[in-house]
Amino acid sequence: MCGIIGYVGEKKAVPIILEGLKQLEYRGYDSAGIGIVHKPRSKKGAEDKNKIFVLKRKGRVANLSGLLKNKHFPNGLAIGHTRWATHGEPSSGNAHPHQDCSGRIAVVHNGIIENYQELKKELEKEGYQFKSRTDSEVIPNLISKFYKEGDLKKAVAKAIKKLKGAYALGIICSEQPEKLFAVRNDSPLIIGLGKGENFIASDASAILKHTKRVIYLGDKQIAVLEKGNVNIFDLEDKQVSQKIDILSGDISKAQKRGFKDFMLKEIYEQPAILSKILSQWVSSDGNIRFKHLGLNDNFLKGIKQIIIVACGTAFHAGLVGKYVIESLTRIPVWVDVASEFRYRKPIIKEETLIIAISQSGETADTLSAVREAKKNKGRVICICNVLGSSLTRESEGVIYTYAGPEISVASTKAYTAQLMTIYLFALYLASLKGKISGEEFKKGVSSLQKVAAMQNKILSQNKEIKKIARRHLHFGAFLYLGRGVNFPTALEGALKLKELSYIPAEGYAAGEMKHGPIALIDEYRAVVCIINSSPVYSKMLSNIQEIIARKGKIIAIANKGDEQIQNYLKEVIFIPKIEPLFSPLLTIIPLQLLAYYVAILKKYDVDKPRNLAKSVTVE
Ligand code: AGP
Repeated sequence: MCGIIGYVGEKKAVPIILEGLKQLEYRGYDSAGIGIVHKPRSKKGAEDKNKIFVLKRKGRVANLSGLLKNKHFPNGLAIGHTRWATHGEPSSGNAHPHQDCSGRIAVVHNGIIENYQELKKELEKEGYQFKSRTDSEVIPNLISKFYKEGDLKKAVAKAIKKLKGAYALGIICSEQPEKLFAVRNDSPLIIGLGKGENFIASDASAILKHTKRVIYLGDKQIAVLEKGNVNIFDLEDKQVSQKIDILSGDISKAQKRGFKDFMLKEIYEQPAILSKILSQWVSSDGNIRFKHLGLNDNFLKGIKQIIIVACGTAFHAGLVGKYVIESLTRIPVWVDVASEFRYRKPIIKEETLIIAISQSGETADTLSAVREAKKNKGRVICICNVLGSSLTRESEGVIYTYAGPEISVASTKAYTAQLMTIYLFALYLASLKGKISGEEFKKGVSSLQKVAAMQNKILSQNKEIKKIARRHLHFGAFLYLGRGVNFPTALEGALKLKELSYIPAEGYAAGEMKHGPIALIDEYRAVVCIINSSPVYSKMLSNIQEIIARKGKIIAIANKGDEQIQNYLKEVIFIPKIEPLFSPLLTIIPLQLLAYYVAILKKYDVDKPRNLAKSVTVE
């Protein structure tokens, strides 16, 4: 997602735009830009015509502020954008605003134009030239195409009718120096109503300082903002009345979109993100198509082994990946923590594929592991959440996870986004190698398409999970047990608890319990058991009986409809049933919430736990 902002009013627009963009950087920060309508200092006798000055750079908003420090723009009409790239790598050229060929119209866009290729082809045939690789650049050119009659609002309406996809747009035109135009469809956009000034923004955090009076623009409504008034129209040019809301709360609350903290917001974003990933990689004909995989199908068909390298939560995603990829493709998969891989002189054969998994793409150990692999002629692709990060630039291919910026240090939405990406890659590879039939492929994709709704069902149990957290707050140590593809879930659940609540927590393969950890079990030990339906359900049930016999306090994650487990346990979180192989996308959700609530009840800062950093960029 990206952040957009616009201003029209009596004050100088530039400082307001820059400050607002800083508030929106949590939505994306790989590049930023500003567009200002101004009257350039005219040469002797030249006609004073308004122009649009555009400045855009890769990197943070602070870069723009530095470059604009000594420039003087008295005007009060501008738009701004901070980007989280979807189409076109992070660069100045791909940053927003984008202009039409004449330079008269500039647009900032948050969203994805699904039919941009066909629109771009049509416009190129009509002589329009494009400078960027983005989807967004079709918008100003489409508006320009219809602007010939001089009515910008009508031109915007005509252009909107051609667009498919999600968008929130801020639009300025050098020939309409008093007006700011805005329109949205699916992407968020609010209008801020000030005194002698008006604003648009992706969310309230960017304008809360100036006004609390807002209008939430409806889909496919065009707002025309002038310094003294705001008028809203539908696409048939009929004026639309709008309710004025009053914002409450502070800026950071607005960024969290009403959630108490980023971590809870990011936990709740997971279903929408997984749906977005599916829509990104599964085409309308049901096939999986990755854009920047970088490796051709011949190499992929010939792969003999896969090595996954990662750290922390990403490592746990890699462990799930081992079970999933081996089960579907029958290719052997090794998973290594990057900090070990990089020093153990890894054995890499010709047909070895290295998959590096990293949310940030800047983790030092993972980067070093990738460099070590490449030194040994390994072919490297990465699964990463930050476009343009070091890892994406040092890998031959990239599969982006599109989870949006993950602000909370404890990784949640990035983890399930990594899992979803791994499942899709495994299905793609298995189908390519002929290891699964078309039927099995379709079944796998349809299982994944059910996950978002199932996650929402689990999230709706948050109050129950909070009560379980409260009843287990006082335990001095936790043990997490899982089997098969949920052994990594046990590890990830334990990591969440320990990094958020500082309670010692250990994840273990349940089959290992009698080889040591059972010595830990007594009435002072809380044991989280993942016992969803699977080929090893009865084995997990035996573990549970052994723990009960030793007075361990169990919290179980089980499938809805499992009556058997209720004969043994009271503290059970029921989740929807899905094919066992896909269950890690669900079993982790209650464990994220459990860890979250334990930490909250202990009054810890869940977004910035002690001693941790969001990205470990040093060894
Ligand atoms: C997970 O909650 C932690 N924040 C940490 O383990 C993290 O997963 C690890 O540092 C890897 O980070 P990366 O995914 O950005 O490479």
